[in-house]
Amino acid sequence: MSGSRERIALVTGARSGIGKACAEGLAREGFLVVGCDLRSDQVGVVPLDVGYEEDWQNVIAGIDRRYGRLDVLINAAGVSLDGDTIEHCSPETWSATFETNLTGPFLGMKHAIPLMRKRGEGVILNISSILANVADGEAAAYSASKGALSQLTKSVALDLARKSPGIRCNAILPGYAATPLLERWPTTAYVQRTPLGRLCRPEEVASLAIYLCGDAAAAVTGSEFAVDGGYTAQ
Ligand SMILES: NC(=O)c1ccc[n+]([C@@H]2O[C@H](COP(=O)([O-])OP(=O)(O)OC[C@H]3O[C@@H](n4cnc5c(N)ncnc54)[C@H](O)[C@@H]3O)[C@@H](O)[C@H]2O)c1
Repeated sequence: MSGSRERIALVTGARSGIGKACAEGLAREGFLVVGCDLRSDQVGVVPLDVGYEEDWQNVIAGIDRRYGRLDVLINAAGVSLDGDTIEHCSPETWSATFETNLTGPFLGMKHAIPLMRKRGEGVILNISSILANVADGEAAAYSASKGALSQLTKSVALDLARKSPGIRCNAILPGYAATPLLERWPTTAYVQRTPLGRLCRPEEVASLAIYLCGDAAAAVTGSEFAVDGGYTAQ
C-alpha cells in the first residue's frame, strides 16, 4: 500500500476551543482530520493524553497503518491551572502544566516527524500564547511553559530546515480568546487590556493556522505569529 492520497492532519485538544476550530477549518480545506483529546466523549475524537509517550506511539502508529502519511500536526491541547502565582504554585501544578503544554508538543513532534519524513513534507504548528513573550504575573507555570514552547518550536524548525526542509514548524501566539479555558477566569479585565476591545475568536486563530498549513506559507518556518487584538503591540 502506498498510503492515502488524502492529506492527513492530527490536531490535539480537538474537543474544544482553538483545537476544535483548527480541526473544523482543516476539514473544510479537505484534510482528513484525526482529532485527539484527553476526553473522547465526542463522536470521532480519538483519546490521547499528550503527556504520555505511549499514547502518541499508538496514535501515530495507527495513522501510519491506516493512511501511511501525516501532513499536519497541530499541538493545541493546553491547560491553565488554578493557583499559578509564584508563591502558590504547587510542584504538582507546575508539573501538570509543563506536562500538557510543553512535554505534549515535544512528544507529538518527536513521533510525528518520522512519519512526515516518509514523504519529506509536513507542517507542525504549536499553539503557544502571548504569555510566552509578555507576562501577566498571575500565570507563572503557564507563561514559563509557553515561553519554552516558543524556543522549542524554533529549535525544531532549524533542525528540520537542515535535515528535512519540506517539513516546517511554527508557533501561533493567541491573545485572550473566547474558549472554555478562559471562561474560568473573569474576562472583563482581559477585554479592557486588549486594544481591539474584545476577545479573539477561536476561528480567527484557526484561519491563520490554515494559511500556515498551506503551500502559500512554504517559506515560513521557525516563526511565531500573534493573533491577539493588538495586545503585544502595546
Ligand atoms: N483561550 C485563550 O485565551 C488562549 C490564549 C493563548 C493561548 N491559548 C492556548 O490555546 C490552546 C487551546 O486552548 P483553548 O483556549 O482552546 O482551551 P480549551 O480548554 O477550550 O481546549 C483545550 C483542550 O485541550 C484538551 N486537553 C487538556 N489537557 C490535555 C491532555 N493532557 N491531552 C490531550 N488533550 C488535553 C482539553 O480537554 C480541551 O479539550 C492551549 O494550548 C492554550 O494554552 C489559549
